[in-house]
Amino acid sequence: MTDTPIPTARLGAAGPEVGVQGLGCMGMSSSYGPRDAKESLATLDRALELGVTLYDTADMYGEGENERFLSPFFKAHRDQLVIATKFALSIPPGEPTRRVIRNDRPYIRQAVEASLRRLDIDTIDLYYMHRRDPAVPIEDTVGAMAELVAEGKVKHLGLSEVTGAELRAAHAVHPIAAVQSEWSLFSRDVEISLVGAAADLGVAVVPYSPLGRGFLAGSFANAEQDLTEGDFRRNQPRFTGGNAAANASLLEPVRTVAEAHGASLGQIALAWVQQRAQVHGLPVIPIPGTTKPGRVEENTAATAIALTAEELTLLEPIAGKVAGDRYADMSFASTSREN
Ligand SMILES: NC(=O)c1ccc[n+]([C@@H]2O[C@H](COP(=O)([O-])OP(=O)(O)OC[C@H]3O[C@@H](n4cnc5c(N)ncnc54)[C@H](OP(=O)(O)O)[C@@H]3O)[C@@H](O)[C@H]2O)c1
Repeated sequence: MTDTPIPTARLGAAGPEVGVQGLGCMGMSSSYGPRDAKESLATLDRALELGVTLYDTADMYGEGENERFLSPFFKAHRDQLVIATKFALSIPPGEPTRRVIRNDRPYIRQAVEASLRRLDIDTIDLYYMHRRDPAVPIEDTVGAMAELVAEGKVKHLGLSEVTGAELRAAHAVHPIAAVQSEWSLFSRDVEISLVGAAADLGVAVVPYSPLGRGFLAGSFANAEQDLTEGDFRRNQPRFTGGNAAANASLLEPVRTVAEAHGASLGQIALAWVQQRAQVHGLPVIPIPGTTKPGRVEENTAATAIALTAEELTLLEPIAGKVAGDRYADMSFASTSREN
């Protein structure tokens, strides 16, 4: 029996049609503890069979390793995929916990060449500014990114973790296809200004960490106790100590809704994110991350779940009760620039 592919959505007014759920590939090379390369490759294959066409990486995931790892899969299926990668963040040598942000033109030009080389392709379908350096006018950054479109190195432009005002300023320079930001039952600060701006401009929102980095799917309950040394989530305030216990209790209504649908917690978390498309009137294409074929099946199956108005009401208060910020350093989030 062949799989019925998931529905599609447009990646912004001028962007390509993609499966309405993408795949986050970061965990295949970095951030979330041990992984198995064979299983990750099987996950990529399974995702494609199920109609997932948007694949998300970044130059900093594993310091280039993730782009190199994905390259053979991308090349084997080039015409069926929309390949998204990002620039702006780097890890200084010998300082594994520090991040340097650069948005200037010389850096962007160097970064795109390095990504194209590692991916071993001619054109990146969607090129995101991963983080904003407020010292560089966003108009200058998008101007430099637009040069890459004119030169054929990049097809569409994206931004990550920007405010609504920043998106509007950027979009006036060159059309932005998509904004990638954290959006989930636990993280709704994009609703302050970004989502309204994206809806006005016809820009797609690509929610990252739609499963709350696994916490909403119940894959761990306390990062310090359940996850290995070096796992990024051990540094996130909401997943440790008393916050983790308090936040685990917030999953109760998710469990109630999951039982009603015969679904998993993660599927309800994804269905909620997907339903933001109707609530806010814009394309929403979440990119849950997984390294396991069975989970990509489970996650894509969530595209068929529609939550009732009563269920949405039950889930509504969760985000407002979450204990702890989403980053240890909130200057890393666009929220710090909302006024
Ligand atoms: N722009 C940005 O700044 C930014 C930041 C973070 C992430 N991202 C992108 O967004 C993607 C997704 O975000 P994310 O990986 O941080 O978080 P996520 O998608 O919310 O959660 C991923 C975690 O959940 C687990 N998981 C996935 N499906 C599951 C299921 N059905 N049941 C139980 N556990 C499940 C995964 O483990 P297994 O692998 O073991 O399944 C992984 O640990 C990343 O891969 C990356 O491409 C972007």
